[in-house]
Amino acid sequence: MEYEKPLFFHLMEYARGAEGDVIDMVSGDPDWDAPPEIGAGLREFSRLGGAQFQYPPSEGLLELREEIAVREGVNTENVVVTNGTGEANYLAMAAALDRGAGSEVLLTDPVYPYYPGKVDLLGGESQYVPVDDEGGIDPEVVRERASEETSLIVVNTPNNPTGAVYDADTMAELVDVAEERDAIVLSDEVYSEFDFSNTFASALSIDSEHRIVTNAVSKSMAITGFRVGYGVFPDELVENAKTRHMLVNVAGSRPAQYAVCRALRNTNPEYYEATRKLLADRIDAFADGLRRAGAEFVRPAGGFYVLARFPDFPGTMANTKRLIDEAGVAGTPGELFGTARADWMRFALVTPEVEDAARRLATFFE
Ligand SMILES: Cc1ncc(COP(=O)(O)O)c(C=O)c1O
Repeated sequence: MEYEKPLFFHLMEYARGAEGDVIDMVSGDPDWDAPPEIGAGLREFSRLGGAQFQYPPSEGLLELREEIAVREGVNTENVVVTNGTGEANYLAMAAALDRGAGSEVLLTDPVYPYYPGKVDLLGGESQYVPVDDEGGIDPEVVRERASEETSLIVVNTPNNPTGAVYDADTMAELVDVAEERDAIVLSDEVYSEFDFSNTFASALSIDSEHRIVTNAVSKSMAITGFRVGYGVFPDELVENAKTRHMLVNVAGSRPAQYAVCRALRNTNPEYYEATRKLLADRIDAFADGLRRAGAEFVRPAGGFYVLARFPDFPGTMANTKRLIDEAGVAGTPGELFGTARADWMRFALVTPEVEDAARRLATFFE
């Protein structure tokens, strides 16, 4: 069977191979520093050796699972530490589809492309629910679209690529739809630390057996390379997730989990606040450039991506490459995120050169 590979890597390579100097706004790799406790944790770990260099428990280091459980207000038993949110999403989808409650998976359009890729891998069938102009989701539309065959509803808040944040009522209603249809809501909350609207509500705030939450420190601690994430699974599904995780991975990485555990315990709120401030300033600077370029855009309420539509310049792959070659700015074509924003381009604000990128776009389109 052939599976479609997300095209991000192709674009990043194209941008790297381009002649002039190009500002990379494709990747979602944070460019700011990790909390110092991450480095301290790794150094400390390096001195341990022996048994500490052997397999950790498959479901993750107990101290780390306990730390996550306290922060999320759940039982340690329901937490599985994974190789990033990416694996947690895969385990969640597999567990939901394994329930035998149908093969249909509801996704939003626009969509984070790894979701349909994984659904495909797991033999599910993706159906798309539209979102409004700001990226908001109407749970009533989800209710209408959900059928007897729906086993899973996947949402991402704060959202990549729209920047939308779903509030507490929306999350509660989505879980309600899942309960009504005997389905599972999977809420991917990997950008939860980047909420500029103060409206973010985790699906964990709703007590239900019909929701799974995934998250990671990949973005919140600027360590996408560490591969430490987690899923919070209901009692009925947690063993399924642990077993699949064990069969695929044996276990995760002990040094990474050790350092993350130490950093979670010892990093104060100012670290996260400083990142939010940095990103909010970048959003301002980029929005200014987009306005000057005559682009349409929605100011993100969360996350670190901006979708923009330029006049007479649809966000196709060809135009994205043109922007790389002629403006020196690399974005991602909207068509990679489904059909709803095919005319748009996504820009990741994870470069110190956001202001320069904004200037370049303004000059190119002015
Ligand atoms: C919505 C979403 N989910 C999951 C991931 C992957 O996260 P992780 O690096 O924790 O696997 C990303 C990465 O960009 C993402 O945007």
